[in-house]
Amino acid sequence: MTEPAADAPSVTDLDRLREVEADCTGCELYKAAGPTVGGEGPRSAWLMLVGEQPGDQEDKAGKPFVGPAGRVLDQALDEAGIARDEVFVTNAVKHFRFEERGKRRIHKQPTVRQVRACRPWLDAELRLVGPPVVGVLGAVAAKSLLGQDFRITDHRGELLEQDGRTVVPTVHPSSILRSDPKERQELLAAFVADLKVIAGARP
Ligand code: URA
Repeated sequence: MTEPAADAPSVTDLDRLREVEADCTGCELYKAAGPTVGGEGPRSAWLMLVGEQPGDQEDKAGKPFVGPAGRVLDQALDEAGIARDEVFVTNAVKHFRFEERGKRRIHKQPTVRQVRACRPWLDAELRLVGPPVVGVLGAVAAKSLLGQDFRITDHRGELLEQDGRTVVPTVHPSSILRSDPKERQELLAAFVADLKVIAGARP
């Protein structure tokens, strides 16, 4: 079997990257999921936000963060004074991992191996967009970019340096959706506060 992710380092533009990653068989997720969901946003974006993996709606639309978590993200970005269309939005894993329960497809966290198999695509996006600031949304993206032992709770909202760029870890917007409704406003406010730290790092 060829390993298309092996081609990622040689790709020189985002359109071509999209074509090449569409054929990825680097792990088994492509078999059950819809299309590869690559990152979206301007090539000149100052900010890249990295989530976990496409959800049910993203898998159907072929676009990142267009479902419920995307709506929380959009609201929080707006409150933090960041326009979504100035951001390159992507995921650590580019295919939806799920379990079927009746007619529903329930999100399953990707494995370490699946995150690793997808990393060349994320690296290619980082190389082609070259964002000076990267926001890391949740544990899976943090493990991909900052290491297996990295804990968001210990470092959320901090300005870290990695490979010449500023990296800011924060929670995943889905964690706000999953929380007790009584705590939701507070958790959203904390997420917005982290995004404001990111906005303050804009060059
Ligand atoms: N959750 C993610 O991490 N990414 C998406 O694109 C949608 C939901």
